[in-house]
Amino acid sequence: MRVLVTGAGGHLGRAVLERLRDDGISVRPTSRRPRGGSDVEWVVADLATGDGLAEAVTGMDAVLHLASSPRGRTHQVDVLGTRRLVVAAGAAGVRHLVYISIVGVDRVPIPYYRHKFAAEQVIAAGPVPWSVLRATQFPQFLDDLLAASARMGPVIGDRAVLAQPVDPGEVAARLAARLVAGPLGGIEEYGGPQVLRFDEAVRAWREARGSHRPLLPVRIPGRLGRELRAGGLVTEALPRGVRTWADHLADTYGGPGRK
Ligand SMILES: NC(=O)c1ccc[n+]([C@@H]2O[C@H](COP(=O)([O-])OP(=O)(O)OC[C@H]3O[C@@H](n4cnc5c(N)ncnc54)[C@H](OP(=O)(O)O)[C@@H]3O)[C@@H](O)[C@H]2O)c1
Repeated sequence: MRVLVTGAGGHLGRAVLERLRDDGISVRPTSRRPRGGSDVEWVVADLATGDGLAEAVTGMDAVLHLASSPRGRTHQVDVLGTRRLVVAAGAAGVRHLVYISIVGVDRVPIPYYRHKFAAEQVIAAGPVPWSVLRATQFPQFLDDLLAASARMGPVIGDRAVLAQPVDPGEVAARLAARLVAGPLGGIEEYGGPQVLRFDEAVRAWREARGSHRPLLPVRIPGRLGRELRAGGLVTEALPRGVRTWADHLADTYGGPGRK
């Protein structure tokens, strides 16, 4: 199987490349700029303009679509760019398109999520047999969020928001398994092993970093707050990943990790 991987240089993309290589799956990674220095041949393609997409999909059996632009030109890249990719893949006879989405895109009112949800619909309506995997948050994302907040003083957040961090390496394994299994024609969800309240996640993070930053609790108002506190970002789907938030903290900052 030959697989085009968009956004292969990103956080998840790097884990995916490693996984597919270990599984013996042949990959063609894409980036917006020329890359070298690895054992695979990168191609240049830009979802915002469509440049390079037709060439990138030529000869591919499957596309694993990870590229995204959460900030800036999200509609142009995530929605219209996904449409450009789907059209190109359809014209090239690609037999399976796998899209990584996020748990909660269908219910949590975050503008980025609206675009991811629209991209799912573009894929479902397109000519290429498809699968969508909605994953929960990567621990690095939560870590970066807390670090950014702590740089400005206290860690600010709504104590009761629920999160379910999932290891990107485990998401990569799930995506690889989906490629091998073939098109689902539907959406599956995948989350980490534990549902954590925001204040629990912050407590563990502070201990791991030896940080004394206090948590300044706020209550996120309106429907967004209600959805986040009611579990809009978490899933009951099984199986789940096994690597915990504590494992991530132990890997990143040292310490005991999972008991
Ligand atoms: N972060 C999370 O917690 C999380 C959770 C669940 C699902 N996801 C999803 O997983 C995917 C990967 O997330 P990530 O955190 O690994 O993202 P990331 O590190 O920001 O990587 C995204 C990649 O998208 C590529 N990209 C951006 N604009 C592009 C454009 N115009 N054309 C082509 N490629 C473009 C970039 O590649 P180049 O710079 O090399 O061009 C970048 O490497 C996203 O779809 C995201 O929604 C993320």
